[in-house]
Amino acid sequence: QAKRRTAPQIQARKGGEPIVSLTAYNAALAPLVDPLVDFILVGDSLGMVEHGMDSTLAVGLDLMIAHGRAVVRSTAEALIVVDLPFGAYEASPEDAFRSAARVMAETGCGAVKLEGGAHMAPTISFLVARGIPVMAHVGLTPQAVNALGGFRSQGHDEAAREKILGDAVAVADAGAFSVVIEGVVEPLAEEITRKVGIPTIGIGASSACDGQILVLNDMLGLTERVPKFVKRYGEIGKAVSEAVAVYAGEVRARQFPAQEHTYKARG
Ligand code: KIV
Ligand code: NA
Repeated sequence: QAKRRTAPQIQARKGGEPIVSLTAYNAALAPLVDPLVDFILVGDSLGMVEHGMDSTLAVGLDLMIAHGRAVVRSTAEALIVVDLPFGAYEASPEDAFRSAARVMAETGCGAVKLEGGAHMAPTISFLVARGIPVMAHVGLTPQAVNALGGFRSQGHDEAAREKILGDAVAVADAGAFSVVIEGVVEPLAEEITRKVGIPTIGIGASSACDGQILVLNDMLGLTERVPKFVKRYGEIGKAVSEAVAVYAGEVRARQFPAQEHTYKARG
């Protein structure tokens, strides 16, 4: 059995073959993704795509741990990264360590991710110094949706580009092993990727990044509305509707269950 990929192995891929990643949240889909990607993110996007919330703000640590455990349990090869949810790490490095240590210990994942740039750098070094690999996340940071004024692309003026570049440099200097860049204009993604020594993982951040990630449910066609940056590689939602419609019709027509699905008494 192949050994799991590690955070240092992902970090070492800077500038090399593109790093492939997706989110996954459960034991039904994670094992299908596992052999085909380098890392799986148990993202707090699960609040929206698996639990019907309209932002990620209400996702808590216990929910992240429950999903993280399901994904670790059902996979064997990919590095598993678990998001730290809103409220679990921002107030202090000590808070962040307690949350991250729970996530690592209770799920068995190999790294955590947190949102934020320069202001989170002291927290990132605090965690890294204590044995916790940290993936950072800059640009469009969904936990800050209220401060950003909505889910909108970032880096449209020079000041914004300077700020986000500074964030990426700060998290790299703090010891993050990789950084997600979300929803930023192409020239900024390109500049960040050129200037930081750790792999950049893009989502809505052009092909300039060292790797890519998408929300699994979005790319599989399991979600209704998707942002511009999502390409739909499957229409699994349609396949589910069609299968359920056939089942419903057969039950109503007493065609299912048929004889081959039916237990016969042996005596
Ligand atoms: O929660 C999530 O799915 C994420 C990715 C979009 C990077 O943070
Ligand atoms: Na997230």
